[in-house]
Amino acid sequence: METLMIPDNADQVIDQLRWRYAVKKFDTTRKLPAAAFQPLEDALVLAPSSYGIQPWKFWVVTDDAMKSSLVEHSWGQTQPRDCSHLVVLAVRKNLGETDINHYVERICAVRGVTPESLAGYRKMMLGTVSRMTPEACQEWSTRQVYIALGQLMATAAVLGIDTCPMEGIVNAKYDEILGIAAAGYETVVACPVGYRAADDAYSRTPKVRFPNAEVIVRL
Ligand SMILES: Cc1cc2nc3c(=O)[nH]c(=O)nc-3n(C[C@H](O)[C@H](O)[C@H](O)COP(=O)(O)O)c2cc1C
Repeated sequence: METLMIPDNADQVIDQLRWRYAVKKFDTTRKLPAAAFQPLEDALVLAPSSYGIQPWKFWVVTDDAMKSSLVEHSWGQTQPRDCSHLVVLAVRKNLGETDINHYVERICAVRGVTPESLAGYRKMMLGTVSRMTPEACQEWSTRQVYIALGQLMATAAVLGIDTCPMEGIVNAKYDEILGIAAAGYETVVACPVGYRAADDAYSRTPKVRFPNAEVIVRL
């Protein structure tokens, strides 16, 4: 019989997820060293997506002037300016055959297989994408981007790094200012990363969640 073990650090992981909250006020004096940000970058890149298609790109903004200019396009919220690294998660516009071919080439390079061996898989992906309206495809791709957001926040929390997921932004302005539209992508959500200010009152506000029994169905 298989022996199931609860990893020793399960409590620590859950404690860190309780410790995480959507930071309203970052400590402007504390910046993440490049080595501390690297695992978060890797967590973004390692996020799973449907078919593995990775219909995304992540902008990482540390330039102070650029970060500050985004406050007025973030409903006046100051986290994009005050954080250490502002991550903007963007979705590929007009996902199509070129992207699928690019992905197939990457599989061949990484796994040492031939394009011919992936012909069926390629056809399946093309079929899925081409059966969708452009709007439905964009919506589907956008859902994948949120998986990366979740993975980024959870990884940061486990590492004791703060974040704030932010949809309260003017996406079109982010697209323009950061060159996201010009690169063929669209802003989905922003995620300032850094360290909480000691006087951010929200860090002491109890977390509001429905009880497990209300949201978990056991069959
Ligand atoms: C997709 C998404 C968008 C959000 N947008 C904002 C935002 O623009 N500004 C903000 O302060 N919080 C934002 N939040 C944070 C939520 O309000 C917060 O996660 C929720 O109230 C639960 O609280 P907690 O994350 O502190 O546990 C957003 C959260 C998510 C998941």
